[in-house]
Amino acid sequence: MSEAIDYRELAREQRDTLARRIGEEAVVVIPAAREQPRNRDVDHPFRQDSDFRYLTAFPEPDAVAVIAPGRPEGEYILFVRERDPEAERWAGARIGPEAACHAYGADQAWPLGEIDQRLPDLLVGRERLIGPLGRDEHWDRKLLQWLQAGRGRARGRAVAPSSIELFEHNLHEQRLIKRPAELEAMRRAAGISVAAHRRAMQAVQAGMPEYALAAELLGIFHRHGGEAAYPSIVAGGANACVLHYVTLRDPLRDGDLVLIDAGAEVDGYAADITRTFPVNGTFSAEQRAVYDVVLAAQEAAIEQVRCGHDFDAFHRTATRILTQGMVDLGWLAGEVDGLIEQGAHRRFFPPRTGHWLGLDVHDVGGYAVGGAWRILQPGMVVTVEPGLYCPPGSEEVDPRWHGIGVRIEDDVIVERETPRVLTSGVPKTAEGIEDLMGAVRGAGYEESGDFD
Ligand code: GLY
Ligand code: MN
Ligand code: MN
Repeated sequence: MSEAIDYRELAREQRDTLARRIGEEAVVVIPAAREQPRNRDVDHPFRQDSDFRYLTAFPEPDAVAVIAPGRPEGEYILFVRERDPEAERWAGARIGPEAACHAYGADQAWPLGEIDQRLPDLLVGRERLIGPLGRDEHWDRKLLQWLQAGRGRARGRAVAPSSIELFEHNLHEQRLIKRPAELEAMRRAAGISVAAHRRAMQAVQAGMPEYALAAELLGIFHRHGGEAAYPSIVAGGANACVLHYVTLRDPLRDGDLVLIDAGAEVDGYAADITRTFPVNGTFSAEQRAVYDVVLAAQEAAIEQVRCGHDFDAFHRTATRILTQGMVDLGWLAGEVDGLIEQGAHRRFFPPRTGHWLGLDVHDVGGYAVGGAWRILQPGMVVTVEPGLYCPPGSEEVDPRWHGIGVRIEDDVIVERETPRVLTSGVPKTAEGIEDLMGAVRGAGYEESGDFD
C-alpha cells in the first residue's frame, strides 16, 4: 500500500498559497457543491465542487468557505451544516462547526444558518471579492445580497468590495500547476485506470454488449476505491466515430475495433485513457494501417509535451502526422500544409489533441495567455489524444475505411526534462495489444446468470 495522502494538509497549503497570491485587500467566498435531485427522494451521487475541494478537503454539501488574508481572528472561515441527530439518523453523520475547526483546520466555523448575518462583515475592509459567479443562480443571488449588505455595513473609512473577480486569474492559475501530492493522487487514479483498460482488453469477447465491457472497467474502478471520472465511452465499430458516444447498447462484433475512453477518479483527481483494439484480438490490415498513423502521431506529440514548448506544439505535431496519414490512406488529396491551412483535416480529426487534466477531467486553466499559447511548465498535466475517425458514408473515401475510428490517449506530466507518461501501463503498439489479448476470440460471449 502506498502512503496515505494528507488532503487536509494539502488544502491548507493551497489556501496559504492563494491567500499570499491575492493579498489582504481581497477576500475569497466559495460554496460547496449542492446536492442534485435525480428523481423524487433520490439525489445524484454527491460530488464535491473541485475548487471547494482543492481549498478545503471538506466533503459535505451546504458549506461555504471564506479566505480572508491577514484577518486577525484567522484567515479561514467555514459555514457548515449544524449537527442534527434526527437528520443524521437518516443520512449519516455531519461534521458540524466544531470538527470543521479541529479536524478541517478552520480558524472559525459557524452554522450555515448564520451566514446571512455574519458573512457581510467578512467583506468589510476588502476591495476585491473573489468567487464563482454565473454557475448557479441561487448562489449568484446570495453573493450579491451579501455584497450589498457588506457595502451597507462599511462605515466611515472602511471599504467594501467594489469588484468581483472570478477564479480564472487566481485560483485556476494555481490549480494548473500540480503539487507533488496532487501528482501522486493522479498517479493512483492513472494506475487504477491502467488496470481497468488492461482488464477490458483481456475480457472482451465478440457478442458482448458495450455496456458489459464498460462494467468490467467500472468494477475495477470501484473495487479500488475510485469511481468513473466521466461516463465511459465503449464504442464498437463505427460507434467510435461518434466522439462522445455514451449510449453503450450495441453488441461488440467480431472483426470490429472497440474504442474505450474511460478513466477513474480517485480522491477527486481524474485519469483519462483511451485505447482502441480489435474485438477478436487481431487487427485487420485496414485497422492496422489507421492505427499505426494514430500511434505515430501520439508518440511524436508526447515528445512535444516539454517544459518551454507552447500548449499548441503537440497538437501541431499530431495534426501534421495525422494529415499526412489521411493523404497516404487516400482519405484526402493534396499537399499537407495546404490541407491543414484549409482545415481539411478536421473532417477526420475534429477535436484538438489534448486538454489539461486534474481534479476535473477537462481541468481549469487558460490555454492561452495574452493572446499567445501558454508555455508548458513542470507540474502541468495534459492528455495527448490524437485520433482518426472515418464515419460510415464518408464520400470520396474507399468504403474499406468506413466506420474505422481510432483514438489513443495518455496522461502526461510536464517535467523539467522528458515528459512523464502516467498511463504507459496499457499497451498501445498493435503487437503489444495483440500479445496482451492473447488467444484469438470467437463469438463466445454469453451473459451468465438467470434473473427470472
Ligand atoms: N474523456 C474525455 C476526453 O477524452 O476528453
Ligand atoms: Mn478521454
Ligand atoms: Mn481526454
